[in-house]
Amino acid sequence: MKIAKTLSILGIAVAGIALAGCRAGGENQGLEYAPQMYHSVAYEPLTQIVDSETKGNLISTREDGKGEYFNSNINNPHHMNMREPVANTVPRNKQGYLPYRYKAFEVEEAGAAMKNPIKLNDEVLAEGKRLFGLYCTPCHGTSGEGDGKVGEIIGGVANLKGGAYVGLSEGHIYHVITKGKGRMGAHGSQITPENRWKIVHYVKQELQGGQNADNAVAVADADQDVTQVETPAN
Ligand code: HEC
Repeated sequence: MKIAKTLSILGIAVAGIALAGCRAGGENQGLEYAPQMYHSVAYEPLTQIVDSETKGNLISTREDGKGEYFNSNINNPHHMNMREPVANTVPRNKQGYLPYRYKAFEVEEAGAAMKNPIKLNDEVLAEGKRLFGLYCTPCHGTSGEGDGKVGEIIGGVANLKGGAYVGLSEGHIYHVITKGKGRMGAHGSQITPENRWKIVHYVKQELQGGQNADNAVAVADADQDVTQVETPAN
């Protein structure tokens, strides 16, 4: 009787210690039971391996002969993992923008054709201000007058509050952000289209006092085809 009791207490203690060992946390990731059930085998999107022997299904070599990655998809034409877009279609980003088609020198055309598709409100302005602070103030300065620290060194930075700059169209500013101009580099690859338009709102409304601003509310409501506008083509 005594032995049985001792054994059972011992058993519980051993089980407890064993279970405590299952805990994960901190740097200890613990042990995962049947990890394949949690981590599904991913297709490698940019590979396309056609291997008639294995049908391209299994490519990594393991001793048990089971590969781990699918590097081609036998259900797709040419065993591609990514399908090609349907003929004569153009990819859009998640917001529905088409690729940006204007060349850097086509600033006049871009400036005349594009309207700000983002509805103007306080939130957008605040975000525009933040983004302007991130991307533009080094050269154009917080005030936009071209007196940023980098601007002091490279010189010739446009004073966004001065002269003809005040009347620039929103599309023009957008184009300059996207493609750059003169010594101002292109920012199309760093800033998403939405964020560029927000910066444009901020420049127009706060720095340039709304002169020649798009009537953004009306534009957005008038079902403007934002998709005609863009995404960076780079
Ligand atoms: C590396 C410095 C630099 C940065 C960063 C920079 N700019 Fe500029 N920007 C310039 C310079 C220099 C010019 C004058 C270009 C010229 O006409 O040769 C200019 C000109 C402009 C113009 C006038 C374009 C025209 O048609 O003459 C606008 C508008 C403008 N910048 C907006 C912005 C905005 C908005 C940002 C932030 C997204 C920005 N810039 C970031 C240096 C910069």
